[in-house]
Amino acid sequence: MKKRISLLLVGSLCLWNFSCYYDEEIDLSQPIEEIPEEQVISFRTDIEPLFSQSGKDCTACHNGNVASPDLREGNAFAGITPLVIPGDAENSEFYQKLPGNGHPIDAGFVLNNTEIAFIKGWIDRGAENN
Ligand code: HEC
Repeated sequence: MKKRISLLLVGSLCLWNFSCYYDEEIDLSQPIEEIPEEQVISFRTDIEPLFSQSGKDCTACHNGNVASPDLREGNAFAGITPLVIPGDAENSEFYQKLPGNGHPIDAGFVLNNTEIAFIKGWIDRGAENN
């Protein structure tokens, strides 16, 4: 019952608040350079998983031992924070040093345009722990 009330509440807030666009259709299957404004970017579901993908696993090195920052799930936000200027990806060290965008050594792989665009968008929109 409690759950249903909060669902109703969230639903009516969405109707009232135009920032809820969950039903917009955005094709992310093609590489894109810029994440559309209506696409919500979540650190937990869109950004953090980029660091431990099979075949492109940052945490092989960024694991608290070999290289900093620590990009393991649960540690990545705290690791990244000192390297980020919220609202300004271009001037953020984290963005300037991604594999595919200026990483200091050959990581053995690169992030693709869409993945880099997600990270840029997340920083430009305030680098929230969302
Ligand atoms: C093969 C090992 C390796 C992999 C894989 C790797 N890195 Fe790195 N990375 C390094 C090393 C080594 C450095 C230099 C670390 C230092 O200066 O302490 C570095 C530095 C960085 C820096 C700059 C940190 C700073 O303090 O300026 C960032 C940002 C970064 N890596 C992000 C990533 C991301 C994101 C991935 C995955 C998409 C990744 N790295 C994959 C080894 C790796």
